[in-house]
Amino acid sequence: MSTIATNIHPVFDRIIGREEKELFLKQRARVIWMTGLSGSGKTTIAIGVEKELQKRGFLTQILDGDNIRTGINKNLGFSEEDRFENIRRIAEVSKLFVNCGIITINCFVSPTLAIREQAKEIIGDADFREIYVNASYQECEKRDVKGLYKKARNGEIKNFTGLDAPFEAPKNAFLEIKTADMSIEESVDCLVKAILSDIKQA
Ligand code: ADX
Repeated sequence: MSTIATNIHPVFDRIIGREEKELFLKQRARVIWMTGLSGSGKTTIAIGVEKELQKRGFLTQILDGDNIRTGINKNLGFSEEDRFENIRRIAEVSKLFVNCGIITINCFVSPTLAIREQAKEIIGDADFREIYVNASYQECEKRDVKGLYKKARNGEIKNFTGLDAPFEAPKNAFLEIKTADMSIEESVDCLVKAILSDIKQA
């Protein structure tokens, strides 16, 4: 159901535009899209990056799977269809932030090429920066910060990413961070350095 009713009259042309807001904030908005297994380090890195960017005067917003799934997406589960819808809504929300000039740091498993392709299409190639937070299933299972890997092994969680649901690694990520080989500080630093010239006003 994606028909636009004839009695809807968008006013996009009369509201203050993105460019003006970016000038106001002295930054260029982007979506930093972190993908990786649960427990790979997406949110930890995002929190560190947000702090570093704030120090440098940038306005950011973190969107995170566990948070979003308690609010706007609380009616969604982990079937393939629900994951697509989860990411579709998040991509639309990210676009709203970008149109407000805000750098959005997204932390979602977003497990398949097709799911992330959908996000990129909605957000637009020019604003989408895919970051692969790479830690192996074995490594994430060893960490098991939320205890989910144990539950998945015991069959208490179905469709668990990497076990009985797929994870497809990105083919052309803007940046790959191997979190088993780097400290949190190094990972944060690596991402900040990679993104800085991109988000600065020319
Ligand atoms: S996504 O696949 O639709 O992108 P999302 O990032 O929103 O997932 O949510 C993933 C988080 O939900 C994980 O970090 C984990 O805490 C939790 N979770 C609960 N069940 C599952 C599951 N079956 N597969 C993956 N993550 C799960």
